[in-house]
Amino acid sequence: MNKIQIFNPGKVVFGADSLDQFVADYLKLSHRRLYMVTISPMVEKLGDTLSQFTAAGVATCINTTIVDEPTFDDFERLINEAAAFEADSVVGIGGGSVMDIAKLIAAQLHSEQTVDEVLSDGFRKKRSTYVACLPTTAGTGSEVSPNAIFVNSKGSKIGVISPELVPDAAYIDPALTMTVPPSVTAATGIDALAHCLEAYTNKFAHPVIDLFALEGVKLIGSSLLKAYQNGADAEARTNVALGSMYGGMCLGPVNTAAVHALAYPLSTEYHIPHGLSVALLLPYVMEFNLTASPERYAAVAVALGSTATGSQEEIAHSGVQIIKELIKNCGLPASLADVDIPLEAVAKLAAGAMPIQRLLKNNPREITLADAEKIYTSAFNLQEYEEKI
Ligand SMILES: [Fe+2]
Repeated sequence: MNKIQIFNPGKVVFGADSLDQFVADYLKLSHRRLYMVTISPMVEKLGDTLSQFTAAGVATCINTTIVDEPTFDDFERLINEAAAFEADSVVGIGGGSVMDIAKLIAAQLHSEQTVDEVLSDGFRKKRSTYVACLPTTAGTGSEVSPNAIFVNSKGSKIGVISPELVPDAAYIDPALTMTVPPSVTAATGIDALAHCLEAYTNKFAHPVIDLFALEGVKLIGSSLLKAYQNGADAEARTNVALGSMYGGMCLGPVNTAAVHALAYPLSTEYHIPHGLSVALLLPYVMEFNLTASPERYAAVAVALGSTATGSQEEIAHSGVQIIKELIKNCGLPASLADVDIPLEAVAKLAAGAMPIQRLLKNNPREITLADAEKIYTSAFNLQEYEEKI
């Protein structure tokens, strides 16, 4: 069995009114200057929270400018603001980008290290600034993971993984995801499902993480369509939020593989949102991979509700079909052509994915440049593509 190291937040609260629990817990700490990274739609919902902080003598500084994956410039801008505010604590209340930058700010706030040094050597100092995360989407699982994503000056995504990026506390209230629009629910939900699926079928899969991964596949597979169709379905929202948290627990110790590696160039080159990039490639990478691990892909199919019979490979194929149908029923595009990517881009996309060996090395089947080209080409759903041109 592989050795595994798991870093979890010191406290995880999952359930209704977790936001209130965050406030109650925070006020028991000695921190009094809270730098809050959040999203504009949350500011109104945070009215009571802010009043409680003010009444307790906690000063807050709110930043709502992070709407996409944070760039180096975003990071410099926000960390300077947090330092000028003399923040002694940080909270991220939002989607993955908001939580990622909150974690990075807390880790770097009193550090002399530059971002480039962190990227090459990791964090030299232990994080000394308290950070909590409260997700408002069910997708990245950043609230419990040691991961954060940056976009560098060339537009490439850089993943940072460090125990210093595991928050002190995570508060997950599925009700905070209720107002997420259906298209975002769908894309972020498929991303969360992919975190679980890529961990379970990973070359470095581990029995501890398998528990979260397979259960996450089951929870999201059974509830994502319901959450997409009716955002107010509390049970479906809860299941997807829990599955997303499980996905986050998979990210540090095992992490993702080829779906994510091949998805990155779609975001870099064509600015396709992360969850959608993942959805566009997930079934095709599954099809490519399943011969390398038919038993694991068959278990995924069963977790997704397949009742297929036959060989492990046949059952595994039924899982790919279920994923394709889920993506279609959730209103997401099923072909790279649907997001205006030309077929001629395949070679460049494949060349862009190959350097992402930190994820490709996790894939259950080795992927060569030619394989990557084949997978991108299959993601055009060529028959449909030809009908369009
Ligand atoms: Fe992801």
